[in-house]
Amino acid sequence: MGYAAFENLLKQAMGLDAVSIGSAAIEHAVQARMSACKLNDMAAYLDAVRASPSELQTLIEAVVVPETWFFRDREAFSALARMAAEEWLPTHPHGVMRLLSLPCSSGEEPYSMAMALLGAGFPGSRFQIDAVDISARVLTHARRAVYGKNSFRGNHLDFRDRYFSATAHGHHLGDAVQRQVLFHHANLLAPDFLPGEERYDIIFCRNLLIYFDRATQDNAVRVLQRLLKAKGVLFIGPSETGLMLSHDFVSAKVPLAFAFRKIDVAARTVLRVPATVPPAIRSPIRPAPTVVTALSQKQRQGLGKVFAAPRPGALQALLVKPDAWMAEASALADQGRLAEAVKSCEEQMRRQGPSPQGFYLLGLIRDVGGNLPEAAQHYRKALYLDPNHLDSLSHLAFLLEKQGDAKGAQVLRDRVRRAAPMRAP
Ligand SMILES: C[S@@+](CC[C@H](N)C(=O)[O-])C[C@H]1O[C@@H](n2cnc3c(N)ncnc32)[C@H](O)[C@@H]1O
Repeated sequence: MGYAAFENLLKQAMGLDAVSIGSAAIEHAVQARMSACKLNDMAAYLDAVRASPSELQTLIEAVVVPETWFFRDREAFSALARMAAEEWLPTHPHGVMRLLSLPCSSGEEPYSMAMALLGAGFPGSRFQIDAVDISARVLTHARRAVYGKNSFRGNHLDFRDRYFSATAHGHHLGDAVQRQVLFHHANLLAPDFLPGEERYDIIFCRNLLIYFDRATQDNAVRVLQRLLKAKGVLFIGPSETGLMLSHDFVSAKVPLAFAFRKIDVAARTVLRVPATVPPAIRSPIRPAPTVVTALSQKQRQGLGKVFAAPRPGALQALLVKPDAWMAEASALADQGRLAEAVKSCEEQMRRQGPSPQGFYLLGLIRDVGGNLPEAAQHYRKALYLDPNHLDSLSHLAFLLEKQGDAKGAQVLRDRVRRAAPMRAP
């Protein structure tokens, strides 16, 4: 027998599409588990996995991709803090804002959400984050809250001094942040996954859907839709944007944050216009045109609130502080002024010389605009200047994956692993 039976089993169990990580990764995991179980026969091992939930879990642990780091795609966290402080808090004088990080991996994402909110002055008593992952191993790491260098990437690490203490085993996150997050072991695709409806104001579901095939992506998004409150906001990964727009979400209009607002049913029934797919939504995960994708720019703006620029001072405590000119270019991009952001970036690089971070930002802007060839070109320029530029490596890997180049993506992921120092236990 071949490995296809294992690929099917993993797809059923956790949604994993073998193409996304490459069949070789699954073969490797199966071989390693067979040898740990002292079995030579694949059919016997398949029976063992089918008969034992704990062996299935161990196999799942062997194939998950737990890659994550603090403030990954940091614009999402700035946007979260803005939404919470300027939109949610003034309209909710009482009560607790509920957030979900799914999948949370080893905790860097939900803890970054907590740090962003606390840093923006959002009281800890007014928000609670649930964090979910299918891997028990990463959750143990998350609860221990001790992190090595691999979790701290890029140059904007002020938050580390503020919220962590250095120990012999790595940086230990303080209680004030830890107590904001509750970890749960669960499978997004399980029929009994987080029962109930409209539990969360904000959901982060980033860098999971890319591992699913289209049908599984649709199922997953339906679960997220059920869990998100009306007008709640869903943050997804840079490569997953096209999918949302075929599921009654509109862009929250915060470029580079990859945030989408749930449309309420009333708005959906009112708006019925002919279908055309706006160019900004071009993506290999291209949705079939629906009422939502058919909305004109103006109609979209009416549905999704455009977030105001940060009040001076209100967000100064935000932990991510880019260099001065990068900050200006990023701020322009965040306000949707993409052409100006590009111009500012290009002008600064003309004056100060080319910069990997500048090319990375240009790549990101092209990426979000759906211009994948140009995005790839910019990421490659960043990597020419700095072959270990982790953000560019990761984004280019996702981009190649989207374009069907799983092998090329794998090569880049290997470079990410080599470039980033090993994570502390
Ligand atoms: C690449 S990490 C993403 C972590 C974080 N959201 C981020 O963007 O940095 C993917 C995570 O998805 C988890 N995962 C995979 N399939 C899952 C499922 N069906 N349900 C819940 N978590 C899942 C894996 O265990 C892994 O930790």
